Amino acid sequence: LHTLPPLQLAHKYFQLFPEQRNPLWQNPCDDKRHKDIWSKEKTCDRLPKFMVVGPQKTGTTALYLFLLMHSSISSNFPSPKTYEEVQFFNTNNYHKGIDCSAAGLYSLLCFFVVLQVHGVFPVPSNVSTDFLFEKSANYFPSEDTPRRAAALLPKAKIITLLINPSDRAYSWYQHQRAHEDHAALKFTFYDVISAKAGAPAELRSLQNRCLLPGLYSTHLERWLTYYPANQVMIIDGHQLRSDPASVMDEVQKFLGVTPHFNYSQALTFDPQKGFWCQLLEGGKTKCLGKSKGRKYPPMEAEARVYLSRYYREHNVELSKLLHRLGQPLPSWLREELQKVS
Ligand code: A3P
Repeated sequence: LHTLPPLQLAHKYFQLFPEQRNPLWQNPCDDKRHKDIWSKEKTCDRLPKFMVVGPQKTGTTALYLFLLMHSSISSNFPSPKTYEEVQFFNTNNYHKGIDCSAAGLYSLLCFFVVLQVHGVFPVPSNVSTDFLFEKSANYFPSEDTPRRAAALLPKAKIITLLINPSDRAYSWYQHQRAHEDHAALKFTFYDVISAKAGAPAELRSLQNRCLLPGLYSTHLERWLTYYPANQVMIIDGHQLRSDPASVMDEVQKFLGVTPHFNYSQALTFDPQKGFWCQLLEGGKTKCLGKSKGRKYPPMEAEARVYLSRYYREHNVELSKLLHRLGQPLPSWLREELQKVS
C-alpha cells in the first residue's frame, strides 16, 4: 500500500473535497464516538449557555455588566476592566479549533478551561445551574457566526439588542472618532453615510462598517435560519437604557435563571453620568467607563433624514419579522415607520 507523506496527503484530500476546507466544529461531547476519544482532562461543561451577540453600540456592555450582577451568571472576560471580547466564531480564532492543544489558546473550550485553571474564572458550583455566557458585539452582522455557533452550541440562547439603526450608526461613528480612526476624523458623519460608489476606499469601508450592522432584518433572518425563534431574544436597547430593571426581569425569565435577582434595588440612575449604574454598598455607584455613554453633539437633521430613508425598507421588514414572531414593536421603530418617506 502506497501513500503520500501526511502534508501532501492533506493537500490531496482537500483537492478532492474542497468543501471540507472550512471546518464546522461540533460539541465533542454530543456524539458518543467523539466523546470516547476526547481526553478525560478536557471538559465540555465550559461552553456558554447563552450569547449576547450585539450589534455594537446598542448597550451590549451595560447588559454585560448587569448580567454579571446575578450570582448564577458568569462570563468570559478575564478582567472586568478590559472588555476584550472572545470573538471566536467571526475571526481566525475559529480555525484554531476548539481544543487547546491545537494551539487554539483563545478558542472557546480552551479559553474557559485556561481561565478556570488560573483561577480567574469561578468554577461553577453546579455546572447545570450556572449560566456561562459570552458577549461579542460583532457576532450579530457576521455571515459565518450563526451557522458556526449553531453547530457548536445548538441549545444556546441568543440575545440581541436593537436601537434605532440611525442612532447606532452615529454612536459608532463617534466611537471611531474617539479611537482616532483616520477616516472618521477626516470626514463628517454626513460624508460617511452618503458616500457614493466612486468615493475613496477608506471612506467606503468606514461607511460599510457604520451602516451595514443596522440592516437588522437581514441579520436577524440569518440567525433565525439556524436558531429556533424561542431561543432568540430581541431587546429594545432604548428600553434597556431608560428602564433596565424591567428589561433584566424579562432577560431572567427568558434564560430561566434562578434565583430571581431584583434589579430595581441593585441599579440606580446616576444624574452625573446620565445613565443607570450599579449601586454598591455604602451608596456608591459603579458606572460604565468614559467610553460608554459618551458626550457628543446631537445628530444633524440632514443626516437623520438621510438615514431614516436609508433604513426605511429594512425597518419595514423588521416590523414584519417582529409581527411574525408575535413581538411588540419598539417605540423607535413605530416612530420610524410613521415618518413619510
Ligand atoms: P454612546 O456612548 O454612544 O452613548 P456598547 O456597549 O454596545 O458599545 O454600547 C454603548 C452604548 O450603550 C452607549 O452609546 C450608551 O448610549 C448605551 N448605554 C445603555 N445603557 C447604558 C448605561 N447604563 N451606561 C452607559 N451606556 C449605556
